[in-house]
Amino acid sequence: MTATVRTRVAIVGAGPAGLLLSHLLAGAGIESVVVDQRTREQIESTIRAGILEQGTVELLDTLGEFSRARTVGSRHDGIELRFAGHGHRIDFAELVGRGVWLYPQHEALKDLIAARLAGGQDLRFGVTVERVEDADGALPRVVAVDADREELVIEADFVVGADGSRSVVRAAVTGSSTGGYFREYPFAWFGILTEAPPSAHELIYSNSPDGFALVSQRSPTVQRMYFQCDPEADPNALTEEEVWSALQARVPGTTLVEGPIFQRDVLRFRSFVAHELRKGRVAIVGDAAHTVPPTGAKGMNLAVADVLLLNRALQALLLEDDERLIDGFADAALKRIWKAQHFSWWMTSMLHVAPDASDFDRLRQLGELRSVVESEAGRTYLAEAYTGWPFPAP
Ligand code: PHB
Repeated sequence: MTATVRTRVAIVGAGPAGLLLSHLLAGAGIESVVVDQRTREQIESTIRAGILEQGTVELLDTLGEFSRARTVGSRHDGIELRFAGHGHRIDFAELVGRGVWLYPQHEALKDLIAARLAGGQDLRFGVTVERVEDADGALPRVVAVDADREELVIEADFVVGADGSRSVVRAAVTGSSTGGYFREYPFAWFGILTEAPPSAHELIYSNSPDGFALVSQRSPTVQRMYFQCDPEADPNALTEEEVWSALQARVPGTTLVEGPIFQRDVLRFRSFVAHELRKGRVAIVGDAAHTVPPTGAKGMNLAVADVLLLNRALQALLLEDDERLIDGFADAALKRIWKAQHFSWWMTSMLHVAPDASDFDRLRQLGELRSVVESEAGRTYLAEAYTGWPFPAP
């Protein structure tokens, strides 16, 4: 049995990009169907990082009462860069008059899912997409298997792959499941969640001779911290004491408040940009189109910027039969994507210690960090990029 559904925009992936796009399209009267392989519970409980640019929070405000970013999240007006035993505050508010919000992505997803379902949206979980057919035709199709193992075909005027770094839709756009520009890093992050009061009120990005660490927060009683580790590290190989001493050694000059560790994971990362972002009537956005290392906190915000551009392009295409914006979509999106790639790579390479770093490399890195914190221009560049370049109009 094959069920066939007809819609205007088929969106694969109920992550921030897919859900936000369907929300914006609905606001313009364009119907969409969103499918995701995962269950709602899996989506809402997968812990993801959570720095939102001010523009992202303002967009979430359009969910009305459903957005809890401003009530449950917390505004941060700066970060600390720590190296050579000293902390240096980058004061976003003073430098660029903007801030960011610490609001974990899975919380934003709960808001988006609740808002979409309350709006009567066709949102289907447990649907595994196998392929996209006829990208170049007027009516591309998503071929999938639904939660009951029945074949599901979604015919649409346009198909969007918002299906993450292991995107299935990407192959219909680039011709292969990998086709893109890559950079691998010889390190990963060992992340923990601990039940403890905050060790700092703002994020600390710390460079030390032992490697990088990040002190982040989740709530008054739960903290998130990371330290640089080998990509092959086993998260369960260290005792709690060993984890705390690894973290503590990487933030010299700060005393971390320790508590029981109730979750640990190793996050591998890389930089990636797909060779193509659109083919005919299929486009990819968010992690399906690009991934960045987490050091620059750009992931979700970059997905939102793609979605704003695609939303406008789809409105022009589907409501006015005007193809100009969709023809320019990839070039417009790539300008910001490569700026964010550069920023994320720069923060990563400035703060981590490569396993084969020489004394020259270490000392040069300290010179680089000093050039940033001792110069208003250097601090302003960091603040502009971290808080986010202006978004395209919705
Ligand atoms: C986090 O809180 O998980 C977090 C914050 C900032 C980053 C990465 C992760 O750059």
